Amino acid sequence: MTQRLAGRTAIITGGAGGIGGATGRVFCEEGARVLLVDPNAEALEEVVAAIRAEVAGAEVAGAALDVSAEPACAEAVAAARDAFGPVDVLVNNAGIRSYEPLAEAKAETWERILAVNLLSYAFMAKAALPDLRKAGNGAMVNISSTYGVSGRAGMGQYDATKAGIIAMTRTLAFEEAEYGVRVNSLCPGYTLTPFHVRRAAEAGTSEAELRAAPVKDCIMRRWCDPREIALPILWLASDEASYMTATNIMVDGGRPVM
Ligand SMILES: NC(=O)c1ccc[n+]([C@@H]2O[C@H](COP(=O)([O-])OP(=O)(O)OC[C@H]3O[C@@H](n4cnc5c(N)ncnc54)[C@H](O)[C@@H]3O)[C@@H](O)[C@H]2O)c1
Repeated sequence: MTQRLAGRTAIITGGAGGIGGATGRVFCEEGARVLLVDPNAEALEEVVAAIRAEVAGAEVAGAALDVSAEPACAEAVAAARDAFGPVDVLVNNAGIRSYEPLAEAKAETWERILAVNLLSYAFMAKAALPDLRKAGNGAMVNISSTYGVSGRAGMGQYDATKAGIIAMTRTLAFEEAEYGVRVNSLCPGYTLTPFHVRRAAEAGTSEAELRAAPVKDCIMRRWCDPREIALPILWLASDEASYMTATNIMVDGGRPVM
């Protein structure tokens, strides 16, 4: 590929998951030194090993941390600096889901999902910004969801965090422009990650059946592959997007026109 992130250090939260792992791989292909952060130590080890096996010369490491607490975010940034040097790129991607209608939503669920999906993005930004400001071309990409901009029933807590990410992205872009840091968000549509495979299996549907079933609410009628999200993340993080900030990009197979 084109070494668009050559010599740059990147942190990706939720790095053991589908989109996080694919982004780690693409970043390594493009010459970045990558720290993947995820509390799932076993999955993290597997993703790091796979990237090392598949990308010649990949400089990638894992940090088994839960970034919902502020001290762990400072730890993640320190680990990246120790392993690879100051941070140039931050991808906030960690995410959990919850399925409680708002009329029944429990305080504990609210607290957990806000901590993982929203506060971790704020704490990671706060911890990484001193490095990003010094970088001169620092970039942050925050992963939201199509449901951060459109509505549905049943996942109000998740959707509220995803809308919050878009608002926080705009504010950060405003506040950091004078320091040369670009901040953008990206909304994936239905992306076939291990999360969806596990959920389908629980409902008795195999991965093959899931892949074959048409996706109803996008005009392309198919699932997105995690790499199709990772590539736009790469572009937003790279200097090719040097005039992009405060933007929210939809990567959703054409959902809004339906
Ligand atoms: N897959 C989709 O269809 C889709 C659609 C829209 C948005 N997204 C968003 O994309 C992001 C990645 O989703 P995915 O589908 O790859 O999911 P995934 O479940 O495969 O990956 C999410 C990762 O985040 C990690 N994580 C959870 N809590 C964490 C914490 N406290 N600290 C650090 N890491 C933590 C998980 O261990 C997991 O590895 C999420 O923010 C999700 O909301 C996904």
